[in-house]
Amino acid sequence: MKVENEKEIVEKAEKFLITTMVAKIEPIVVSEARGATIKDVAGKEYIDCFSGISVVNAGHCHPEVVNAAIEQAKKLVHVCSYVYYVPATIELAEKLAEITPPKLQKTFFGNSGAEAVECAIKLARKFTKKYELIALMCSFHGRTLGTLSVTGQAGRRKYDMGPYLSGVSFAPPPYCYRCPFEKSYPDCDLLCARSIRNVIDYCTSKGVAAFIAEPVMGEGGIIPPPLEYFKLVKEILDENGILFIDDEVQTGFGRTGKLFGIQHYGVEPDLMTLAKGIADGFPLGACIARKDIGDSFEPGDHLSTFGGNPVSAAAALANINVILREKLSEQAEEKGAYIMKRLNEMKDELPIIGDVRGKGLMIGIELVKDKVKKIPAVDETRKIRDLCREKGLLIGSGGVKGCVVRIQPPLVITKEQIDSALNILETSIKKVGS
Ligand SMILES: Cc1ncc(COP(=O)(O)O)c(C=O)c1O
Repeated sequence: MKVENEKEIVEKAEKFLITTMVAKIEPIVVSEARGATIKDVAGKEYIDCFSGISVVNAGHCHPEVVNAAIEQAKKLVHVCSYVYYVPATIELAEKLAEITPPKLQKTFFGNSGAEAVECAIKLARKFTKKYELIALMCSFHGRTLGTLSVTGQAGRRKYDMGPYLSGVSFAPPPYCYRCPFEKSYPDCDLLCARSIRNVIDYCTSKGVAAFIAEPVMGEGGIIPPPLEYFKLVKEILDENGILFIDDEVQTGFGRTGKLFGIQHYGVEPDLMTLAKGIADGFPLGACIARKDIGDSFEPGDHLSTFGGNPVSAAAALANINVILREKLSEQAEEKGAYIMKRLNEMKDELPIIGDVRGKGLMIGIELVKDKVKKIPAVDETRKIRDLCREKGLLIGSGGVKGCVVRIQPPLVITKEQIDSALNILETSIKKVGS
């Protein structure tokens, strides 16, 4: 590329790109990234605590992943799976069957999380011959029309672009800090999970194919349900012959301190969707299903031209090797606990921090104007994000109320980087919040 001038690139982007920015924000023009560090074209370095939205779990440009992709690209970049099998892609499917929960065996490959979820919905419908779906309020499953239909957040711009799929019902979220029933855990006796019975009885025509949920709601604001939640939900689903689609697009590949988020809860899903952390940044989405469910697709039922691309598949295989060998799940658990401890100390001291929650290196800090009334501190959240950025730290911000700071760094982030990041964050929160 000819231009290295930041201003020129921004002007061109605004002229030639349909926007995918999440807010009116001054964009960073990135030149390169390694591990947990991003550098812009002006040479400024940032500690990356958002990983391209929870993607580069093994770190930016991990050499083994990059080399695997290069070696594959020298041999074969694309043929499409409509009449061809490619060794790297099949090897990856076998690997996924090995590392995901035991009943999951057959994989469809697409290019993104949304495509993985679309496939899961179609498979669940084809297998059960039912079409209704249950999802959670506050959930996020993608930006295509099908995935937005099961997304429980109008704030992810559902308005102006509907109508969406019919036959979707939403259950109350397991969002303890803002419990929809105004109860407290554990006295609530998991009312949110039990209310799924009511959703089935009162909101559906009993033709429900599947329930879809994230083990930790990411875009909703890093919301981990109580530990017993999914066991109870699965019991209710089994009683009603409803499949469980576990959306691991954001929680997968070590992010939460286990290889897959659902492993915290001791239940087995019927289908699982994967993307983001699967290939350390190479585009790839996957839906893995029980054999009998996977077998319900017949030739011609489903395909994506680039799905299972050999270069992405080779990158994914190398990435999974790194994650397993370097024990990145365990690292996420350990580093996450270290961060949470410090954040909880800040919470005790600072009135703006209402809640600190998460699993592994998927951490949310909910900011409020008042700890009792829990009024969302939306402007403050944005200001903190911007201040951190000025000081060389990239964090996420979001949540259903727009007041959650998201910490989701590459799992390889170093202790020194974590300490620097926490220092910048603390100074920024103190500056804005007091
Ligand atoms: C849980 C979950 N599912 C699905 C998606 C959609 O993934 P993609 O943006 O790759 O389509 C996301 C993206 O943030 C997600 O967090």
